This record gives sequence, C-alpha cells and structure tokens, in this order.
Amino acid sequence: MQTIYYDLRDTKGQQKEIEDKISAAAKILREGGLVGIPTETVYGLGADGTNPDAVRRIFAVKGRPQDNPLILHVTGAQWLPRYCADIPPVAYTLARKFWPGPLTMVLKRQPTVPNETTAGLDTVGIRCPNHPVTLAIIREAGMAIAAPSANTSGRPSCTTAQDVMEDVGGRIDMVIDGGACVVGVESTVLDLTCEPPRLLRPGGLPVEDIERLIGHIDVDRAVNASLKENERPGAPGMKYRHYAPKAPVTVVIGAPSVSAKEIERRAGPSSGIICFDEYAHLFPRQTVHSLGPSSDKQMQAQRVFEALRSFDNSSVTEIFAQCPDNRGLGLAIGNRLKKAAGFHIINADKQRIILGVTGGTGAGKSSALNAIRDLGGTVIDCDAVYHEVLSGNEDFKNAINEKFPGVFTAGGELNRKKLGQEVFAKRDRLDQLNAIVFRFLVPELERQTAASEGICALDAINLFESGLDRLCDYTVAVTAPTELRVKRIMARDHISEQYARLRIGAQKQDEYYRGKCDSELNNASDSPEEFQKDAYLFFERLVEAIQEEKRHGC
Ligand code: TXA
Ligand code: MG
Repeated sequence: MQTIYYDLRDTKGQQKEIEDKISAAAKILREGGLVGIPTETVYGLGADGTNPDAVRRIFAVKGRPQDNPLILHVTGAQWLPRYCADIPPVAYTLARKFWPGPLTMVLKRQPTVPNETTAGLDTVGIRCPNHPVTLAIIREAGMAIAAPSANTSGRPSCTTAQDVMEDVGGRIDMVIDGGACVVGVESTVLDLTCEPPRLLRPGGLPVEDIERLIGHIDVDRAVNASLKENERPGAPGMKYRHYAPKAPVTVVIGAPSVSAKEIERRAGPSSGIICFDEYAHLFPRQTVHSLGPSSDKQMQAQRVFEALRSFDNSSVTEIFAQCPDNRGLGLAIGNRLKKAAGFHIINADKQRIILGVTGGTGAGKSSALNAIRDLGGTVIDCDAVYHEVLSGNEDFKNAINEKFPGVFTAGGELNRKKLGQEVFAKRDRLDQLNAIVFRFLVPELERQTAASEGICALDAINLFESGLDRLCDYTVAVTAPTELRVKRIMARDHISEQYARLRIGAQKQDEYYRGKCDSELNNASDSPEEFQKDAYLFFERLVEAIQEEKRHGC
C-alpha cells in the first residue's frame, strides 16, 4: 500500500491547499481508513472510533494486544455526552482548564462506542488534542477519532512524521506531517469513575497541576513499579514492556552529578548513553544522546522517545540512562525511561556499604546475616565463593597441588578432609594454604562487592588474615558467651559437649574478634528470633550512621 504523505507543518500558506488536505484526511477516516495524525503529545494512528472494522485495522497494523483500549479524540467537552455516560462535574472542570491538551479522562461509556475501541471495557478514554490540524480533521470528519500512539507495539512512541513512516509506512493510507510534537510524551490518563480520581498513566500534564485544581488524586501502582503476573493495572496498556529499544536499558536514578558518575563507572565502549547536557563530556568514547539540560524537563520530554529510538540504528549493546526526579513532567519522563528498562533501575544515591561480618561458630553469625538480608542487603558467603572459584580455576588448583600434593582426586576434586588434616594444628602449613587461597579469592570478592548495590555483607571467618577487611566500610564481630555457644552447636550439629568445646577451643576467641573489629554485636539471647530482631536494629542504625558519614565525606 502506498502511504500518502502530506506536509502540513506550515499552516499559514495556501489556505485552499491546506483545507483540501484536511478534507482528504477526513474522507479517508470516514471511509474506514487509517491516518497518522499529529498531536501535541505524540503522533497518533487515527481511525473512525465508532467503526469496529476501522478500529480492528489499527490493532492489526500496530500488532497491538487485543485487551488494550484506544483513546477517543474529540474537539471539546461538548462531545462528552455523545460517547460518555454518568459524567461527573469534575470532568467539565478539568476540560475547561486543560483541554485542548495532554489529559485523557476515563469515563463510563455510551453504547455508541464499540467494544473494539474500549477493548470490551465499560469505560472509555477521551481527550481533546492540542494541534490545529488534527482538530480541523476531527471537526471535518464529524466523529471521534480513535488513536493510539502511532508506533508499532512495544517500540518507543513517534514524535515526528518520519518516525510514523518508519514504523507503519506502507501499511496505512496517509500520514499528516504537523511538525515535531511539542510535548513529546503521551497524555496523562486519569480515571474519573472512582473517588478520588486515579492517575493511570503519568503524561504531559503534571499531576501537581491536576491536584491544584481538583485536590488529591490516587496513583495507580503500575505508574512506579513493574507489576507481578497476577496484578492488573488501571490502564491495560501499562502492563506491557513499552518504549523499548532493541538493546537492554538500565535507568540510573539519583542526583544528576551522582548518577552520571555511576554511569561513567559502568559504561563500556559499546554502551549507549542517555544523559543530561552537562554530563555528555564524560562519555567521549560512547554513543551519546543528550536529553537537554538537567533543569529543563520540557526539553527532556520532547527528546526522550527520540533518544530511545536513536539507538536502534546503532550497534550499542546496552543503554544507560540518567533520569529526572519525579516532580512535574519528570514523573512521565522517568516512567517512560523505566518502562523502556523493564524497571531495571539502579539508585546511585543509595551508596554501596560493605560490611565485614565475622565471629566464631555458634555465636549467631547466621542470624546476624539474616538480619542484613531483612534490611534488603546481600550476603556473600566467602567460603562458598572459595569453592566456586576453586572448581573452575586450574591455576588455583595447581597452586594448591604444588604445596599439598595428593589433596586432589584423579577427577580433580578437592579432598577437603585430607587437606584439613594437612593443615590442622600445623600453623605454618595453614599459613601457606591461606596465602594461596587469599591470592585467588580476594580479586573475585573485590569484583563481586564492586558490582553490588546497597548493603553488602562479607561473611568471612578469616576476614582479617585474608585482607578482606580492607574492602569493608565497617567490620562487625558477632560474639556470644562460651557456655551459650556450646549449647547452641550441640543442638545444631548434634554433637557431644566435649566435641563442641573442642571445636570452640580450636578457633579464635571472642577477644580476638573484639580487638580487631570496629564494633561488636553480642548475642546473649536464648532465642535466635530475638537475636535476629536485635541484629536488625543494630545494622539499621549502623547503616544510617555510615551513610551519614559518607554524605559528609563527599
Ligand atoms: O497522548 C496520547 O494519549 C496519545 C495521542 C496519540 O493522543 N495516545 C496514546 O494512546 O498514547 P495509546 O493507545 O498508546 O495509550 C493509551 C493508554 C493505554 O495505556 C490504554 O490502556 C489506556 O490509555 N486507556 C485507554 N482507554 C482506557 C480505558 N477505558 N480505561 C483505562 N485505560 C485506558
Ligand atoms: Mg502507546
């Protein structure tokens, strides 16, 4: 199919010619055809919203999921009763203030709106776009135009007529070029069928502007987070992974100077970068698409889709994006970026804190580490990492085999018992083994802690001997009275009292840990649950103090 392209960027020229083009577009719509139309937000893919066949064609061309309803576009509030029922007065209040403009209202529908348009819902989304050409086309066509954003489903929305040609050219009847969209993100979708009204999609009209006029509105959970399998967003469209370029996207939130630094640390030569103007110079080797100054959200909104689209024609393998804060247009811009990232978000402000946690057997280290997990932290079990690294590293194995011949089986498995016997009670042999282990282990742990976010705890019995304490912001000794430890490991490991005492005696004593660590977490409780609660409060306070200190240190 040949798509007719009409350039109506300049509407001041030949009036007759312009009117003819508008009439031609309206005629196509009346006859059930599809027209790419400019609006102030993004380009729409328009069809007669009251014609089920025409609406079905929209779904087919976009590859749009059947359960995602379309917005009806009208020329003003006087059209509301034609398509909507039970219209609350607040709808007129909002229309008076914000139409024409980037606000879609969800209202009960009239039977005049076909199921195809509303995807079977008993409500309909309706808005009056702020673009002279499209308003003229709707007026001339004489009916509401159903129009989703003109991109093929899943791609970033189109903000120029060229984008529309790229996505659906050859499959629709006409594209009207009305210039680049001045808002750049889609309309704000507000559900007025509930009390208080509910924000279903943040968009070109900031929430604050709406609240100033009509008071508090609720925010649908899908606005700020990716939903679980069984959760349903207020706007069906919010559940799809939208706006996604081909390369995976990571959004880095936080103060712009901090997020820029975080991206600089993570980016490789094949990364694509979406950043504010001020930070573009940090990425001389990368493909950069600037959103404009960090203070200019209007420009960021205009550029966000272009930025996401631009990388599809390059060979970048991953994309890192800076993100504005949530105020004003920032909520909509951030939402589009985060959806493009499938909500893969890094908080650069939430600084990494590495805690070293050590202590003898039976003192309660496991409960303390569980408390750190409860706080959202990650725990790295250094013993497990040791075995992982050893199993995959021939140099490591050879180095041990050289000093301790015969501790590996013919199949290359470490005979832990044999190695244990070799080093048990022989101080110099143990030192030799540790020197090898630490040489291979520390670089791996360094890598793992550097890749972690938020709180990260190193669970290491040899925290100091290995030098791992140098990676830590803070070290904590978990200690407990000997008699309690004896009782605990007897119960835990089903061993005799004598053997329990022997094991405790063979380890370093609490005094050692107490002397080495920055602080001590003493566990004199009979109940592990009780201790875990105490540990939670202890680490919560500790993390706050470290964060505070880091902030001042910056
Ligand atoms: O700015 C815009 O709104 C653009 C321009 C072309 O007007 N249109 C647009 O349409 O973004 P679309 O189809 O890409 O997104 C419409 C969103 C979807 O998330 C859809 O699920 C939601 O609005 N929506 C439409 N009707 C609804 C309804 N009755 N109830 C709840 N959500 C609705
Ligand atoms: Mg869309």
